Order: sequence, then C-alpha cells, then structure tokens
Amino acid sequence: MLFVMIDWIRRALPPSGGIFYHYLAMRFSRTLWRDFRAEVDHWLTNWLSNSLTTWSPHAHELIIFGSSAGYSLSTTFLEKFNRVIVVEPDPLARLLLRRRFPQVWWEFTADRNLLAPIPENAPGSASKRALDQLHTFLKRYPDAAVLFSNVLGQLPLEFPHLSDELFASHLIAIRAAVKDRAWASYHDLLSTWAKPKSMAPFELPSGPLDLEAFIRARLEPPPGGASPLEVTDHQTHALSIGEPTACTWWEIAPGRYHLIGFLCSPGPS
Ligand SMILES: C[S@@+](CC[C@H](N)C(=O)[O-])C[C@H]1O[C@@H](n2cnc3c(N)ncnc32)[C@H](O)[C@@H]1O
Repeated sequence: MLFVMIDWIRRALPPSGGIFYHYLAMRFSRTLWRDFRAEVDHWLTNWLSNSLTTWSPHAHELIIFGSSAGYSLSTTFLEKFNRVIVVEPDPLARLLLRRRFPQVWWEFTADRNLLAPIPENAPGSASKRALDQLHTFLKRYPDAAVLFSNVLGQLPLEFPHLSDELFASHLIAIRAAVKDRAWASYHDLLSTWAKPKSMAPFELPSGPLDLEAFIRARLEPPPGGASPLEVTDHQTHALSIGEPTACTWWEIAPGRYHLIGFLCSPGPS
C-alpha cells in the first residue's frame, strides 16, 4: 500500500504539470487565463467543425495527450465526443478531470512513454521501438482524432537527455504518426519573464526561428537595458515543418509569459 502511495505522489510531481500546475489553475484559470482559454476553445471548435466535415464524421472519438484536468478545455467541446481517451501520467489530473467533466465517457492510460523520445545513448533501433509503441497505441483507435494538449513543449523537461536535433526529429516523427487523421496541437514555443510588447495573437512565419530578432521585435527590453532577456526555447518550432504558426501569449502566472503555437489538420478528405 505504501509503495502504491509513494508511486502516486511521485507521478503527481513530474517536471511538467503536477501539483504546482493545479495550484496555478485554481488560482488563475478564471482570471489571468480567461482570454487564453477562450482562444483555445474557439480554435478547437473551428478545428472540430472542419475535421468533422472532411474526416470520419461518424467516429466522434478523441485521444488527448497531456490533458491535465482539462483546464483549457470546455464541456461544449468535450461533449462532442462519444469517447475521450486520455494519456496523462499525473494521477491527480486524471481524478480531477473525471470530477470536472462527469458527463464525458473517459478512458485513461498513464503511459508517458507513448510520447517518449529515444532513450539516452540508444542505438537507432531503440528510436524506432519508442515510436512503435505510439503507432501500436494509435492503431487501437483507428477513427479517433488526436489532440496534443499543451504537452509537446513539456517533453524537453520530461526527457532532458535529448539534443535539439534528436528532439526535432522526434517531433517530426510524432507528426508523421498522426498524419492520416484529424490532429491538433497547441504547445509551448517559448517562455519568458520579459513582457510582450503586445498580447495580440500573431503568426510566426515559416522557416527557422530567429530568436534574437524575435526578442527585439516582440519583447519589451529590460529596464535600463542592463541584463539580457532570459527566454526559454521549448524546441517545438520543428513541429511546424515549413508552415506558419498561429501564436498567442498566455500569462500563466503574474509576469510569466508562454508563447503558445497552434497547429492542426482536419485529416485527409
Ligand atoms: C501544461 S500541462 C497541460 C495543460 C492541459 N492541457 C490543460 O488544459 O490545462 C502538461 C501536461 O502534460 C502531462 N504530460 C507530461 N509528460 C507527458 C507525456 N510524456 N505523455 C502524456 N502527458 C504528459 C503532464 O502530466 C501535464 O498534465
């Protein structure tokens, strides 16, 4: 029993999400997060209406990776599905999700390795094995749409051993794994304590991200111009592979800003 409890607590304290994230949600989801949540909801509604007219309109199944307790998801959106399959390692998140949306038919898996990149020092065949797990899982739900719910930008925290190049190729492989279905991802691109010059949504052009130019164009310089601005790159720009990315700022806690990118596909017609 003790071991079960320790494992439960360990999983509720992962480097991404976890108890601190639930605290922030409790504190700010109705205030600081309100506009961001409305933007996510609007974007998901558009994605869904485009997807359902072109792809598998009878399926009505959704797989969510990294749901947490669904703080950025709405009942109206979730109720559109007959079944929602959730991949979420945090046990507290799964408990709260069920409580927050009792009307949804949930199915859970806690397996964080479905999105796991290549194990440390692994040979090429291990990389293939890691992705094979994801393919096998997806095959169990051939008609389900897939939502990466603000999770892909957390993976560098979860799996810090990866080089930028390996992580980029892993993201491209994840994108390839869902290419034949409707899929969507909103994810951290950058995060910073620097204040954005404008909170209005904008589009990042295709092509490599020039971080220096971005900082000059989009962030307020530090008072007195003293120390350089600290910006964390969540390494997810590779997921855009050559297409522009719709972006918005999310103030997750007072003074802490995340740049969130939105990508989606309605699936093959
Ligand atoms: C920033 S939170 C997501 C926010 C959430 N979508 C919402 O609506 O509030 C990131 C979530 O991803 C989960 N997560 C982290 N690594 C994961 C993995 N490898 N597979 C699936 N979920 C993961 C964390 O437990 C956490 O709940």
